Amino acid sequence: MNVKSVTLVIAIALSAIAPVAAQIGARPARPVVIPPQGAVRQILFKNCTSCHGIDDYAFNALDRAGWDSYLTKKHEAVSVSIAGPDRELLLDWLASKFGPTTKPFPRTYLVQEVTTFFTDDEAQAVVKRACTSCHEIEKVNGARFSADRWRVIAVDMRERGAKIEDEELERLVEWLGRTKGTNPQQ
Ligand code: HEC
Ligand code: HEC
Repeated sequence: MNVKSVTLVIAIALSAIAPVAAQIGARPARPVVIPPQGAVRQILFKNCTSCHGIDDYAFNALDRAGWDSYLTKKHEAVSVSIAGPDRELLLDWLASKFGPTTKPFPRTYLVQEVTTFFTDDEAQAVVKRACTSCHEIEKVNGARFSADRWRVIAVDMRERGAKIEDEELERLVEWLGRTKGTNPQQ
């Protein structure tokens, strides 16, 4: 193979594994929910994860009764039957983690591709301006998350009142993922 065809093969291989996001620019953001430990984990794995993941739960903020009827309503067309103590435990967990005092992840948030990147100084200036009115800057500087989780946190902070525009938010998320990152599992 000559250099040109080797390059082509590599380009094709890369485009096959590159995330769709990198190819089309904007994509809906998804929340990230880390599975709990203990009994609820077993309940989720036994009853809930065969059809879809648990991330979408975070699109909602409901009280216990609200979760109860939402689960029934959402699964009318499919056979999901969870009852008795398992259902009670699951509802406790859902209401405590995605309860009425939490902020649901917005369904309409679109991730724009970042094309200009924050320098450390620019990012720190945004953090100082937008992220220090409710808690110490250490809450940001001392944390380590994957970029996707940083997005979930930044969107959550904005829902709570952090003043930050979409475009700025994505650049901040890129910077946080780059400088305060971790592997995607955490
Ligand atoms: C047999 C497949 C199946 C199983 C098992 C299942 N679900 Fe679902 N679930 C669905 C489908 C299909 C939808 C989408 C329904 C719709 O949008 O109208 C859904 C939607 C949801 C939603 C709504 C997400 C949103 O965007 O707001 C939640 C929450 C949910 N499921 C939780 C659960 C939980 C908790 C369990 C375990 C008790 C579970 N699911 C088990 C098929 C399943
Ligand atoms: C309007 C108030 C407010 C602003 C502004 C704010 N935060 Fe927060 N932040 C909170 C609260 C409240 C919590 C605690 C949430 C909890 O523990 O459930 C928190 C927690 C956090 C955490 C810990 C999350 C975790 O899962 O451990 C991080 C990281 C964080 N904020 C980052 C930021 C960043 C980055 C910004 C700026 C974009 C910001 N915050 C701006 C209120 C705010």
